[in-house]
Amino acid sequence: KQAAISYSMIDRGNYRHFMSKEIHEQPEVVSHTLARYLDMSTGRVTLPEGFVEQLGRVQRLSIAACGTAYLAGLVGKYWMERYARLPVDVDIASEFRYREPILGPGGLSLFISQSGETADTLSSLRYCREAEQTVASIVNVEDSTIARESDLILPTLAGPEIGVASTKAFTCQLSVLAAITIAAGRVRGVLGEEDEAKLVRALIEVPRLMTQTLRLEEQIEGIARELSRAKDALYLGRGMNYPIALEGALKLKEISYIHAEGYAAGELKHGPIALVDENMPIVVIAPSDMMFEKTVSNMQEVAARGGRIVLLTDAEGAHATGEQPFARVILPRMYQFVQPLIYALPMQLLAYHAAVSIGTDVDQPRNLAKSVTVE
Ligand code: G6P
Repeated sequence: KQAAISYSMIDRGNYRHFMSKEIHEQPEVVSHTLARYLDMSTGRVTLPEGFVEQLGRVQRLSIAACGTAYLAGLVGKYWMERYARLPVDVDIASEFRYREPILGPGGLSLFISQSGETADTLSSLRYCREAEQTVASIVNVEDSTIARESDLILPTLAGPEIGVASTKAFTCQLSVLAAITIAAGRVRGVLGEEDEAKLVRALIEVPRLMTQTLRLEEQIEGIARELSRAKDALYLGRGMNYPIALEGALKLKEISYIHAEGYAAGELKHGPIALVDENMPIVVIAPSDMMFEKTVSNMQEVAARGGRIVLLTDAEGAHATGEQPFARVILPRMYQFVQPLIYALPMQLLAYHAAVSIGTDVDQPRNLAKSVTVE
């Protein structure tokens, strides 16, 4: 159905760009998506029984996807390994298909795609079918080719996404992956009933946290105007927020054409720190968790070299982080589990406002297509 909707048929409402509209739709569409997979009254995850049973039985799960959907998969890996002790392989679909992955009998593969038409993802799916894997997919377009060729589909209820740079589809993909994580944790005996209820409650809070985070837009817009003058930018994160740093850098280069790289914060000293000077903005994702101190110390390494730090955190003590960052965005307090869902939003807003301030074509950036149907 979505494929038939043309660019002109969907209303931008009062928004200047589809991307902005789609960013602001996230509390609502994430809430719809979560409602599909969570039973709010009992605090339980509701996924198809056969799928859950398989999550309990498999030795590992393999995930393949492209672009932003791949980065959602990477968050899924951090989540499932941590909360469900389920080993997960995540691959860029174009690599997966041709590296001849070893897939044991009875295995389970998961594909993630907004459009459900991405050629590399589809060919990886077909490879898995031939290898007799059970094929599940997280798709936004329910009558797409990937959906049709899957044994099981887990829809995201993001609604049509028009902006080429994915925003709401990404956070809806994360919502489904979060539900899978909890279900896998339960069936694998890692999470108890209370743990499940706690994580479900944390997810139910996400739309409200997103609304609060979107209220920081004006502040983020000011930072983005500064960012838009840079030639290069670095994004740093750790653990489950490392893929969010990659996503922040991807968003920025896609729509503003500023060269940006995402790095695992601990990897900084193994190369990219050589790039740091007083012209280099560095966006640091430093949530209040056990990695906070380590990330702050990575931040201080770049501050000492004159790098202009944009610190994103929900840590209460963030005002006492020693070196003064160039900008500090304080997010609402949240459970660690849901951090990627919330920290994704300032990444989108930074890229969006940097692009608007430069004057690029935000919704249809040069050289990019919404759905890539060639390998
Ligand atoms: C294109 C889009 C990206 C998207 C990627 C994967 O590159 O510009 O926004 O993440 O394809 O698309 P899919 O539809 O498979 O999620």
